Amino acid sequence: METLLNKILKDNKHLTREGKVASYIPALKKANQDDLGICIVDVNGNTYKAGEYNKKFTIQSISKTISLMLAIMDNGEDIVFDKIGMEPTGDAFNSMVKLEMISPSKPLNPMINAGAIAVASLIKGKNADEKFERLLNLFRKISNNNKLNINKEAYLSEKETGDRNRALAYFMKDVGIFDGNVEEILDVYFRQCAIEVNSIDIANIGLFLANRGQIPKTREKVTTESIAKTVKTFMITCGMYNESGQFAIEVGIPAKSGVGGGIMASVPNEMGIGVFGPALNEKGNSIAGYGVLKDLSDKLNLSIF
Ligand code: DON
Repeated sequence: METLLNKILKDNKHLTREGKVASYIPALKKANQDDLGICIVDVNGNTYKAGEYNKKFTIQSISKTISLMLAIMDNGEDIVFDKIGMEPTGDAFNSMVKLEMISPSKPLNPMINAGAIAVASLIKGKNADEKFERLLNLFRKISNNNKLNINKEAYLSEKETGDRNRALAYFMKDVGIFDGNVEEILDVYFRQCAIEVNSIDIANIGLFLANRGQIPKTREKVTTESIAKTVKTFMITCGMYNESGQFAIEVGIPAKSGVGGGIMASVPNEMGIGVFGPALNEKGNSIAGYGVLKDLSDKLNLSIF
């Protein structure tokens, strides 16, 4: 397997030169555009790694899957989807255009920034610290890595510059999608995006979702099959933003990307895959990571369709 992974990385390495590392969050500019790594963990306990699988990066939008999971565990699906929709957008991840066009206003889905900020508002806790603590503990458990923590520089960098997210959040408060302290809600969101991981960590989270909400190693059932299914379905329909349709056709695996360069994928009942390649395409998805997952899916026949 590792021979295959090395070959796939080699075949896709040239793509890293065709993308660009994210720059709208200043701290992300420091990433090395050439990096490319992968880790696969399967339900039988095997781990396969290649390339820069050990490099750390911030989880960014991949975190939206698990914050959604926690918000549903805290409130139930009815309350969550009363505030946030279930439909793909066809727009960029940080777009605001549809927010005002839908009546009554609600973010189209929990994978776009507006939806994820609304999700953060639903996480239970007496303040931002407590909400984030609960989320971080969940991440530590399902990634099997008790050392997970935030990258402070990335967090502060986004907190300082995240005015588009601020605009989305204040708009949503104004139209009644949530109430409460907007800066506190954003603080939870900025911190969750800045959690630092490597490909192994996100592969383990992908495996946990693939294994229907149960951690294979410990057999601990952290969430219900139904919630894990909802999360994976959003990964298929919205996880790669306005490239989700093409990705579903070409790769066919539930996946979620982040502007830190990670893509987490879940092959139901089989494996979790973590790919890292910080050079992004124009949709904000890892350009070489996409290519790696496409080749892997072809070679191992992983498409769920
Ligand atoms: O809110 C933001 O813009 C970032 N913290 C996360 C965006 C992101 O990862 C989009 N993914 N491709």
